[in-house]
Amino acid sequence: MPLVNTKEMFQKAYEGGYAIGAFNINNMEIIQGIVDACKELNSPAILQVSASARKYARPNYLLAMVKAAVEETGLPIALHLDHGPDFETCKDCIDGGFTSVMIDGSHLPYEENVAVTRKVVEYAHARGVTVEGELGQLAGVEDDVNVSAEDAHYTQPEQVEDFVTRTGVDSLAIAIGTSHGAYKFKPGQKPQLRFDILEEVSRRLPNFPIVLHGASSVLPEYVKMVNDFGGNMPDAIGIPEEMLRQAAASAVCKINIDSDLRLALTAGIRKHFAENPGHFDPRQYLGDGRKFINEVVKNKIETVLGSKDRV
Ligand code: G3H
Ligand code: 13P
Ligand code: ZN
Repeated sequence: MPLVNTKEMFQKAYEGGYAIGAFNINNMEIIQGIVDACKELNSPAILQVSASARKYARPNYLLAMVKAAVEETGLPIALHLDHGPDFETCKDCIDGGFTSVMIDGSHLPYEENVAVTRKVVEYAHARGVTVEGELGQLAGVEDDVNVSAEDAHYTQPEQVEDFVTRTGVDSLAIAIGTSHGAYKFKPGQKPQLRFDILEEVSRRLPNFPIVLHGASSVLPEYVKMVNDFGGNMPDAIGIPEEMLRQAAASAVCKINIDSDLRLALTAGIRKHFAENPGHFDPRQYLGDGRKFINEVVKNKIETVLGSKDRV
């Protein structure tokens, strides 16, 4: 099976009341950890690449590894550009074999967001590529995605029909209180998501796939593991799994996970070195990192996404 776009997988996810995991990839061990988990549980997957990940791993290497993963597993896998910053980057990814792109115009004035998203959709749809747009801004600070908490604002449901109709996007990322990175809420703060906004958006957009960014749970046992093995991470509060299950059962068809993969890889490598201080063969410590990625992805599929046996 070749790489697929997200059209059919979202339709099935919407109808089946589950979500597809969109996992950020940066290197071979992360890709293998993810797709091995999906193969074991017979789950579709979205492998997504940020502009900085593309720069780090280099476009041709990533594409070749993702194609190898598809050939080896036979699973429906989409290769998606995460947070496409402009038309040119989206075009470059579409021309380079991506089957899905996000154009993130959420920081732009509304009309500019509509215009650039429409332009990407026209180019993408003519080539069989699906497009995710975004309305509303997530809080949190993470590398290239930098929105201060003060500027954060929720998606305004009154805008969604106009945006979707005028742009022709295939899915819409919304801001309901999630944020990027490990530190999503202030210490001691109770995590809360605006499910009322999600409900109103899905009422206005029947049978339309919604995307949740910033959806890592940042489980305390992983932070503890990192710290038990020599790390020094402050306590973090992520999105509770129960809330993600609720989202996955609704119109949310794509749940983005990066920080939990970073945490798992780091925990696996730190544990390896703590237990084997003399090791210096990358296959040994990266192999343990890959195992941790595999475990965390299986856990997501089974306990949060509900995408097991949905191939
Ligand atoms: O949402 C952003 C992702 O976590 C990607 O982060 O730009 O550091 O690759 P990155
Ligand atoms: P997390 O930082 O919560 O994993 O979110 C990742 C994301 O939204 C990638 O686009
Ligand atoms: Zn994101």
